[in-house]
Amino acid sequence: MKKTYRQQYHLMPETGFLNDPNGLCFYKGEYHIFHQYAPQGLSAQRGWGHFTTKDFVNYKNYGMVIFPDSVWDKNGSYSGSALIDDGEMELFYTGNVKQPGNHDYTTSGREQNLIYTTSKDGVTFSEKELLMTNDDYPENCSCHVRDPKVWKEGENLYKMILGARTMDDRGEALIYKSSDKKHWSLDKIYTKHGLGYMWECPDFFELDGKTFLCCCPQGVEPQGMEFNNIYQSGYMMLEGDELSKFVELDRGFDFYAPQTFLTPDGRRIIIGWFGLPDVPYKNPTEETENWIHCLTLPRTLEYKDNKIWQEPIAELEKLRNHEVTVELEKGKPNIFPTVQCEALISFEKETDNFEIDLRKDVNISLKDGVFTLTMGDSGMGRTKRSCLVDKTDKVRIYSDTSSLEIFVNGEVFSTRIYDDLELSEDFSVVLNSTSQGCKLAYYTLRPFEITKIS
Ligand code: FRU
Repeated sequence: MKKTYRQQYHLMPETGFLNDPNGLCFYKGEYHIFHQYAPQGLSAQRGWGHFTTKDFVNYKNYGMVIFPDSVWDKNGSYSGSALIDDGEMELFYTGNVKQPGNHDYTTSGREQNLIYTTSKDGVTFSEKELLMTNDDYPENCSCHVRDPKVWKEGENLYKMILGARTMDDRGEALIYKSSDKKHWSLDKIYTKHGLGYMWECPDFFELDGKTFLCCCPQGVEPQGMEFNNIYQSGYMMLEGDELSKFVELDRGFDFYAPQTFLTPDGRRIIIGWFGLPDVPYKNPTEETENWIHCLTLPRTLEYKDNKIWQEPIAELEKLRNHEVTVELEKGKPNIFPTVQCEALISFEKETDNFEIDLRKDVNISLKDGVFTLTMGDSGMGRTKRSCLVDKTDKVRIYSDTSSLEIFVNGEVFSTRIYDDLELSEDFSVVLNSTSQGCKLAYYTLRPFEITKIS
């Protein structure tokens, strides 16, 4: 069989480039997962790809459904969101236009248009309408204002949040309001001193009675264990009109531009781009397999222990196939048949101390209140990430062909990983140290069933 880095249970492009999840929603019995997509590769103009699913296991892939084919989005149908209202799906997104000439595209030369289109069946879309242009944004904004997320607040009030960069390089979130979804007026501006020059892909929602603003700031300096990726993705709680400390939504190397949505049973789910732009490390699939990036697994958000706490969605348990449970003994290698698996490591009692080797050259440890993930060659430049974790009684690991998502105490470490394809495809686990009894439940996972709709 041909060896490949293609994933088995993550959504990825057949060919070319995928980035942000867009328009996440539940409509007419199905979840809709759109995403930024350039099947011809990174240098081609982006549109929206489209997957649907009823259960997060079986998917339909509609390919590209929103094309950068109008004068308002000819250089990319950029990110946006879906609103389900009056029985229709309504999409709001940014049309990107680069004007010809000599421009820096920050202070001049770039149009960021608010575009609107609707659907009655979730798969075909009405003619695009232009709702806003650069002229409608506040005067001190640069040409970078994008990524609308729209929601309904009460009977006749709609709100929209947009990410922005000011002319003096401050990241901002602009809140607009409307009573008809077509005419928008500025309601409020949020910003935070020291939090970068541009905020991309903002989100705004309530969780357990608290209000959160999420965004992806660019231009934040690393501070110890925090903010070590090139761009950040995180949240702030709204305290009155003030934004609390910015907290990262993921502690790994590959997470950006996430979006949240509500399920019919009231869960707030987040899906992220399992990647970042402009990174110093490699994703070899681009050169060798003509595709790059995927989406993360969906995870639920809760407000717990004074933070946003994330867990994999329960539906993922339906992927479980065979289960093997073993007691881990210190220093003894445990070899399981495939790398595409879920590994649930549990300790007899909460512990603040362990160290475990995984796969080819991955190590996870908890020591002195710090959980650390390290990777060797298989990280292709990704080396070490840490975060504060006081104590835990379990670590849940989703391992796919070329990714790891590690859940510990409501935190997640998402990272792409590229083992040597010529070597064995085993999943190996070695417990190096702990003061507690430690068990491992290993599950092989069924691949996603994806039907192509042409
Ligand atoms: C974030 C982002 C968005 C933009 C989109 C374009 O990754 O830069 O701000 O809308 O990607 O693909």
